[in-house]
Amino acid sequence: MSDADTELEARLEEQDSFEPPESFVEQANVSNPDIYEEFEENWPECWEAAADMLDWETEYDQTFDGSNPPFFEWFTGGELNASANCLDRHLDERGDEVAIEWVGEPTDEANRTYTYEDLHREVNEAAAALREMGVGEDDVVTMYMPMIPELPIAMLACARIGAPHSVVFAGFSADALATRMNAADSEYLITCDGYYRRGDPLDHLEKANEGLDNVEHDTETVVVERLPEDDAFDHDLRDDQRLWVDAVHAHKGAEVEPVARDAEDMLFLMYTSGTTGEPKGVKHTTGGYLSWAAWTSHAVLDIKPEDTYFCSADIGWITGHSYIVYGPLALGTTTMMYEGTPDHPERDRLWEIVEEYEATQLYTAPTAIRAFMKWGSEFPDQHDLSSLRLLGTVGEPINPRAWKWYYKHIGNEECPVVDTWWQTETGGMMVTTLPGVKEMKPGSAGPALPGIDAEIVDTTGEQVEPGRAGYLTIQKPWPGMLRTLYQNDERFVDEYWREYSDTDSDDWRDWTYFPEDGAKIDEDGYITVLGRVDDVINVSGHRLGTMEIESAIVGVEGVAEAAVVGGDHEMKGEAVYAYVITEDGYDGDEELRDAIIQGVEDGIGPIARPEQVIFTPELPKTRSGKIMRRLLEDIANGAELGDTSTLRNPDVVASIQEQVQK
Ligand code: PRX
Repeated sequence: MSDADTELEARLEEQDSFEPPESFVEQANVSNPDIYEEFEENWPECWEAAADMLDWETEYDQTFDGSNPPFFEWFTGGELNASANCLDRHLDERGDEVAIEWVGEPTDEANRTYTYEDLHREVNEAAAALREMGVGEDDVVTMYMPMIPELPIAMLACARIGAPHSVVFAGFSADALATRMNAADSEYLITCDGYYRRGDPLDHLEKANEGLDNVEHDTETVVVERLPEDDAFDHDLRDDQRLWVDAVHAHKGAEVEPVARDAEDMLFLMYTSGTTGEPKGVKHTTGGYLSWAAWTSHAVLDIKPEDTYFCSADIGWITGHSYIVYGPLALGTTTMMYEGTPDHPERDRLWEIVEEYEATQLYTAPTAIRAFMKWGSEFPDQHDLSSLRLLGTVGEPINPRAWKWYYKHIGNEECPVVDTWWQTETGGMMVTTLPGVKEMKPGSAGPALPGIDAEIVDTTGEQVEPGRAGYLTIQKPWPGMLRTLYQNDERFVDEYWREYSDTDSDDWRDWTYFPEDGAKIDEDGYITVLGRVDDVINVSGHRLGTMEIESAIVGVEGVAEAAVVGGDHEMKGEAVYAYVITEDGYDGDEELRDAIIQGVEDGIGPIARPEQVIFTPELPKTRSGKIMRRLLEDIANGAELGDTSTLRNPDVVASIQEQVQK
């Protein structure tokens, strides 16, 4: 390092707040600081600004309807179509401009460029094909696809005909697919033959077929052929399966009139993890969700039609839904899709893509940034990243060191960094700085967005003082919020509202949304999110339920009981620690350990694979028989253990500690 570099590092190290760069502010979509006050004074009408970002077929007659809490409605009476908003309305002015720029993992494969005209044509043909298969309005279509263009095409085709999609992350297991298709009564599946991962073709259809074997009702499947012939796997299609090429190409040139959907009609379902073993089907609506995705893309990601915006998330998670597909396309910009991992073939792959396509924004996860940091700045340094104007992160807390590395080595200190807190349930961003308005404080996401009322409270619901840890709550509804859990209103109320609301009240002001995150706030209203306070862990920004992992583990022969907790992990944020009691007659040996890991990969997917499996004769339990998870977490983290005298079996602690250290 040169002296100048060392000096710079030292300065950055000390600096704990950063003003947005002047050059950014001058051109920012939102730069007037009065917006916070204006939105507060003018709530809920302030959210007409979000609705105004869309084209409505029928104007709504009420902005917000809070008459039946917590079943809130937004833009009531309005009608619109999401695919028309993402495609048709851009055709006149931007038909020839690029909508999706797709980059495959193999470097010798040509990229695929879809202009708005192209995408519109493909979506219409796919919509016609789905109709012909019998997909009707409100039929849930499941998609089990990696990052290939047919995924957003299929999503928009569904939106066009008013069929909600339910996208299942391609890295999830066959069992996870089956669970989600059964839960949603979904009779249609769109999947693909395979895709590339770190240079190798991966057989995806085999996994999809295994999943289909466990679906309890009849299904029809469309299979996209992603792999070229040389790399294709040998599969015979089943009677209820057809190829995407056959289904879609039969409708060449078809035009499908976009169905006018009520603002409150479901746009999609997305399954996510919660406290129980059963995934929650988060329901998002057409008007509220889409306007939220569009408004936040405009205000926070600063997306303009002429941008080339790059989000490195997977569309199988909510980030990809809101900020690869719906938000960017609603704004008529160019959105990038990359199939592979950032380290293939080399650790500069993302930077190569940024340089080649002159990406203007990059939105990624702290886990990725920590990996980039570990690999070293020589990889980004090989590339011209000066096209970048804004950087963003999402999914987990970002430590100040990683934030500063990102700011300096990727953004060259010329790009604001937005650390965006939100969830599958919130539909879009909730807590983050507005990049053209607010100073940034590394490690703290920022204040709540204008019009969002966030408070940090204690267990009784009283606001805690600045600097003290408490629970993050959202005190007012917002357009992008989930409306319910699919076919389970009761669980919706229990999971998100019961904790801090007066559930007998029919005044919406008595209802408070609880995201199940811990947080603290500073004097300036900046919120630092501390992490989940429920039985959910966050591994590399992937949300996993400990109960789901436990149930996969106890399904393994020889396992009597299991407790899963998240332990701190330098790269992944958190890692899965599994404490396991074997059945009589079974040894906690390598063989069982492998079987447990396999069981988790089969039940959920490789992302949930335990970092450590610790065999123990007993689990630490309270006198009432509850497993002391906090203690297991402390053991995993090698932290000082508090008082263990309230345990029914305090002796077990030392032996578990010993195992972990081993
Ligand atoms: O704990 C919070 C964490 O991720 C959870 C939501 O996960 P999911 O629904 O999968 O959505 C992830 C993408 C939006 C939250 O409850 N989280 C998300 N963003 C942040 C975060 N934690 C700290 N800082 C963030 N910026």
